[in-house]
Amino acid sequence: MDLQQAKEKLQKFGQEHVLKYYDELTEAEKQDLLKQIDETDFAILENCKNLGKSEGRGKFEPLAAMQVSEIEKRHDEFFNAGVETIKAGKVGAVLLAGGMGTRLGSDNPKGMYDIGLTKHVYIFQRIIENLLDTVKQAGGTYIHLFIMTSEKNNDITISFLKEHNYFGYPEDKVTFFKQDMAPASDYNGKVYMEGKGRISTSPNGNAGWYASMLKAGLRDVILKEGIEWMDIFAVDNVLQRIADPCFVGATVIEGVACGAKVVRKNAPNEGVGVMCLEDGKPSIVEYYELTQEMMDAKDENGDPAYNYGVILNYLFNEKALFAIAQNTLPLHIVEKKIPYLDENGNLIKPEKPNGCKFEQLVLDMIHELDSCLPYEVVREHEFAPIKNPTGKDSVESARELCKLNGIEL
Ligand code: UTP
Repeated sequence: MDLQQAKEKLQKFGQEHVLKYYDELTEAEKQDLLKQIDETDFAILENCKNLGKSEGRGKFEPLAAMQVSEIEKRHDEFFNAGVETIKAGKVGAVLLAGGMGTRLGSDNPKGMYDIGLTKHVYIFQRIIENLLDTVKQAGGTYIHLFIMTSEKNNDITISFLKEHNYFGYPEDKVTFFKQDMAPASDYNGKVYMEGKGRISTSPNGNAGWYASMLKAGLRDVILKEGIEWMDIFAVDNVLQRIADPCFVGATVIEGVACGAKVVRKNAPNEGVGVMCLEDGKPSIVEYYELTQEMMDAKDENGDPAYNYGVILNYLFNEKALFAIAQNTLPLHIVEKKIPYLDENGNLIKPEKPNGCKFEQLVLDMIHELDSCLPYEVVREHEFAPIKNPTGKDSVESARELCKLNGIEL
């Protein structure tokens, strides 16, 4: 794209300020900016007017979870089927590590955060140690670990993991890929600049993982290795069990397109997304979308009918995902703190949210599929998310839960 074309594109979307410092840039910076203008989807910014407005939703109905009691009863059946599936090389794992971790407030990728007290215990280390537990259960079969990063944290993530020898995981079983970025804007949809020659961007949400894998040519690897199931999980849950054999076995045996790990809610209005059916298809209803009637609804055993929250650990059938890969997912407009250049060209790191980012979420992929098994896990043993430095879902609460599970920090 040349300068004239860039001007025309920017004018069309009312974003002419992007070229404010163009004349001050070096030739290379000019080329980079023109390329970025060419690649940026400015039309997305229109959506910031929908901030806070909820999408029209369909008709919700409960979706029964497979409960711990049943899983315990059928343990051997599930475990053996899961081990067999893993040993056959049919399971891959995808670590979602493209997020910015703004709430945690560290400049480094979240996985580099050290939660240790008497020694180093990095979040990435905890994740890989957990994955190694599965490898052991599967008789030493290594699961291919795909790690999604973003343009903002890719290089540092790779060098950190290399430096630490992948915490004992074989290098040839680790593949990195980058997710796409989306522009970030103020509340009026005016794109922010993060440098004189750089439009402000942020990762386009954790649903970007599958499209980005396809774009990176990784489906060839998936097909070549015969991977049929992909366990997708968040970087920030330090008790995350990855591709655990019982979960894999139950999902395979039930013949569903996906399995979703869920935990029993600790209060009817707990702030977690709840597994349900929406217009007859699996879906996740956000806690603020639950009506009083839904919170009061009971299942046939008299237990709350909307009682199982998702923890961002899903086992997807890869063929089922490929079949829906072209479907458009809803766009979520999220209010965030976005560093920006002020009028005088100084970079400001805001203390409070100052604009919108645009994300597609992995939970919306579930609704595109025909079936999903909510699979209950014990919260205290498998769910210790780190979102904040202190308080709820924090480094502090995760440390407590690690202690409870005998993990030395
Ligand atoms: P969160 O939604 O908690 O976002 O991500 P975050 O970026 O880590 O943290 P905040 O909201 O800025 O504080 C849940 C999981 O999804 C991944 C994160 O890395 C985390 O594992 N994620 C999120 C991505 O991989 N890409 C994204 O674009 C967003």
